[in-house]
Formats: sequence, structure tokens, C-alpha cells
Amino acid sequence: MDQLSQLNTGISILEISYVVASVLFILGLKMLSHPLTARRGNIFASIGMGLAIFATILFHQKDGKPIGNIGFILLAIVIGTGIGWVIAKRVKMTAMPQLVSFFNGMGGAAAALISMIEFPHISPELIAKTGMANGHVLAILLGLVIGTVSWSGSMIAFGKLDGKIGDMRLKAMKFVNLTILAVLIGFIVFIMTRNVQAASELTPLIYVMFIISVIYGVLFVMPIGGADMPVVISLLNSFTGVAAAMGGFLYNNQAMLTGGILVGSAGTILTILMCRAMNRSLLNVIVGVFGGGGQSSVATSGTVKEISLTDAAVLLSYSKKVVIVPGYGLAVAQAQHICHELDKLLEEKGVEVRYAIHPVAGRMPGHMNVLLAEADVPYEQLIESDEINPDLPNTDVLVVIGANDVVNPAAEDDPTSPIYGMPIIKARDAKNIIVMKRGMGKGYAAIENMLFFNNKTRMLFGDAKSTLQNLVNEVKSL
Ligand code: TAP
Repeated sequence: MDQLSQLNTGISILEISYVVASVLFILGLKMLSHPLTARRGNIFASIGMGLAIFATILFHQKDGKPIGNIGFILLAIVIGTGIGWVIAKRVKMTAMPQLVSFFNGMGGAAAALISMIEFPHISPELIAKTGMANGHVLAILLGLVIGTVSWSGSMIAFGKLDGKIGDMRLKAMKFVNLTILAVLIGFIVFIMTRNVQAASELTPLIYVMFIISVIYGVLFVMPIGGADMPVVISLLNSFTGVAAAMGGFLYNNQAMLTGGILVGSAGTILTILMCRAMNRSLLNVIVGVFGGGGQSSVATSGTVKEISLTDAAVLLSYSKKVVIVPGYGLAVAQAQHICHELDKLLEEKGVEVRYAIHPVAGRMPGHMNVLLAEADVPYEQLIESDEINPDLPNTDVLVVIGANDVVNPAAEDDPTSPIYGMPIIKARDAKNIIVMKRGMGKGYAAIENMLFFNNKTRMLFGDAKSTLQNLVNEVKSL
């Protein structure tokens, strides 16, 4: 094994494998930025991860000895792969965010476990040389706190996305959360300034830190609700990346470091973009004091006007410019293919059809892009909300399909609304608005939407897929 693992150049197969794995992670991430290459990107990144795992099992050595317990490790891999495979195969597209949250939490838990296991084994030589104040100890403690927060926070996010856990908001939440953060920092400073012979003397403190971190993760996600969950999910994602990178430092493992940094930095960039898209501040996300269950003061009474299928078909067919706003309901109904059929039909009639894409439409970042790419809607037809908004006053018909919060004018009009300040697709600026949904059900933020009562709005009630199918038939028969 020694001869095999060491090339003439002195570079080990393990190191080469880690470099290749890192390159595969980077390429995979790059490909994930476009729906057409995303699937391949996922495959590249998983090959990289597989390579890193098996190279470690085969070639990693500690004190000149290969790693032990290979049987147990392989068994754990088989069980984990089996469970992950079955869950991922069975999950519905609309439940993806919960799944992502759950898997993300597992990453955080793994990072936290590494820290808990490694802490008592910090080398006595290192402690004799530098005391506890060194990068190794700091990486362990940060990995523990960040990984644990990511785990417990992700589990709460999972419960909320799945509708099993509601919002909980207390006035003192910001104060409580900031205090807990300060306590955790205090623990880190305390541990790193202790004068001990062996780190194991301080192990009980590690368990206390773990419990406090669990509480922090729960408390900071509990109040976040309404339309703001996407921001918190991407923040938790970046936490897991950072916690994994700490493990990479700890073990001097390049693949783990690169993977962690990529997830951490991509998650952070996404969080910042999400914060901008939702007009929220990052600090408020971290201490969990935004969005939530505040009730809008908007009156809930009013009359809605309906439109018949025939009228809708005529209105659309004789328009020049049509904008479709897809939302979560389109994904639930799996109506993307029939929606594309409608847009092709209209385009054949000389109507310009574009899709307005809101960054948090649906239940995961890029949800609408992925959904529409699945139906082969050309990417050029998908226009970001900021870009399309100025053109909406020139739009003859705007068709909202299963979207709600992302077109809710309360975000602009009602300072008491939990979504106030979130940029929206300014649907009400269009000349005519058709809203397709099953009834008067609310969106994710659970608030009333005055767009439905707007003078220019007409409702086309029904499941998005069957309504679109009927609409396609009507347009064809004109
Ligand atoms: P929502 O506000 O969730 O509204 C979806 C609407 O679709 C509902 O009002 C529902 O009304 C309708 N609907 C459900 N099933 C339908 C079906 N089969 N056919 C037709 N309509 C159907 O959707 P949105 O506008 O896309 O906004 C997304 C929300 O989720 C935002 O608040 C966002 O912050 C949040 N969120 C987003 C993410 C990411 S990253 N995108 C993650 C977590 C949460 P009816 O019941 O009356 O049909």
C-alpha cells in the first residue's frame, strides 16, 4: 500500500485525489449555475465526493498506519447511501426544500460530532507549546458551535417548511439571541485561555457549549416565518460549509477544506443576494428578528371578479404582450409542460410571451427556473423581476399561475405586513391581470393579497394544470 500510495515525485495518491476532488467540486458548482448543466454539475460534485471518501479510506495514514474499522466505515456508507437514495428518489419536487434543509442539518451535525470527538484528543505537545490558544482549538470550537447551530436550526427549518412547526415570536427574542451568542463567544475565550495539561479536562464545557448551541439554533429559526425562510435556509447552508471547512483545517484535508469553503462562500453569497432580494439585513437574519407571524392590517373583505375560460383565451390571444408569473402552485400542480404549451400557442399567434421570475417564488432558490427548464421553456424567456417590472405597464395581460406572496402589493403598501419591504413583481401595473389558483387560499406568508380584489384582476379558479389544459383547448378552438 505504501509503494502504491507514494509516487516517485513524493506527492501521494491521496493528495492527488484531493486535488482532483476539489477541481470536481469547483466544476460541479460552476455547472449548477445554469439549469441546462445543473444535472451534470451534481454528478461531477458527487464523483468528487466519492473520490475524496474512498481515497481517504484507502490511502489515509496516521502515524504510518492505515485507518482501521474499515468494515464499520463501509457499513455506515452503505446504510447512509441507501437511506439517502430512497429519500431522494421518493421526495416530491415541492418537498425539496425540506429535504435540502434536512440534509444540510446532517452536514452540520457531522461537523459538530467531529469537533466533540477531536476536542479531548488535542495533542498534549501542542498544548505544552501554545497553551489552548491556538488555531487548532479555535477550529474545533467554531466547528462545534457553527455545526450544531446549523443542525438544530435546519431541523426547525425542516419542520416549518413541512408545516409541522409554526412561528414563535417573543418581544425579547433579539436580546435573548444576542445574549446567547455572547455567552458562546465567552465560552470560546474561556476555554482558549485555560491553563491545562490536557484538553480532556475541559470536555464537560464542550457538552455545555453543544447544548447552548442547540438552543441558539432553535431560537434563531423559530421566529422566522412568512416569506423569509429562504434567507435563513441559505444562511444555514453557509454555516454547514464553514463548519465543514473547520474540519478541513483540523485534519489538514484539502478536499474537505475546499468543499467546506465552496459551500460556505456560495451559501454566504446566496444569503446576501437573498437578503437583498427580500430587502432584509443580514444581522437581523442572524439574530432571528425579522419576518414572522405579524398580521397584516389589510382589510380582508372585497369582491373578486371571475373570468371565463373563453374570455381568458380571447384576451390572451388578442394581446401583444403577455407576462406569466409562475409560483409555488404551478410546481404543486406540475403544470409547467402545459404552461409552455400555452405560451408556444400564443407565440404562434404573434403574442410576445415572457415569464417573470421572482427570486423566492416557489420553495427553493431557482425553483421556477428549474421547473420551467424541465419543460424546455427557453432560458431567454425567463426575466428577473427587477428587469421586467418597468415593462409591466406596457403588458396587456399578466397571468399569475399559482403565485401569491411574490405578487402581493402589501409588500409595498402595508408597513404592518410581515412581507413589507420585500421587492415584488408589480403585477398590478399590468393592463389586465388573470390569476389562476384553486380558491382564495393564502400563500406561504399566510396573509391576504389585495391584488385579487384589484379592479383589473380577474380570477380563473381551479387546479393550475387542468385550468391550463382547458385554456389551451380554448385557445386552439378560437
Ligand atoms: P405562495 O405565496 O406560496 O402561493 C402559492 C399559491 O398557489 C397559493 O396561494 C395557492 O392558492 C396556490 N396553489 C396551490 N396549489 C395550487 C394548484 N394545484 N393549482 C393552482 N394554484 C395552486 O407562492 P409564491 O408566490 O411562489 O411565493 C413563494 C413563497 O414561499 C414566498 O413567501 C417565499 O418567501 C416562500 N419560500 C420560498 C422559498 C424559496 S427559496 N423560493 C423557500 C421557502 C419559502 P390556492 O390554495 O387558493 O390554490
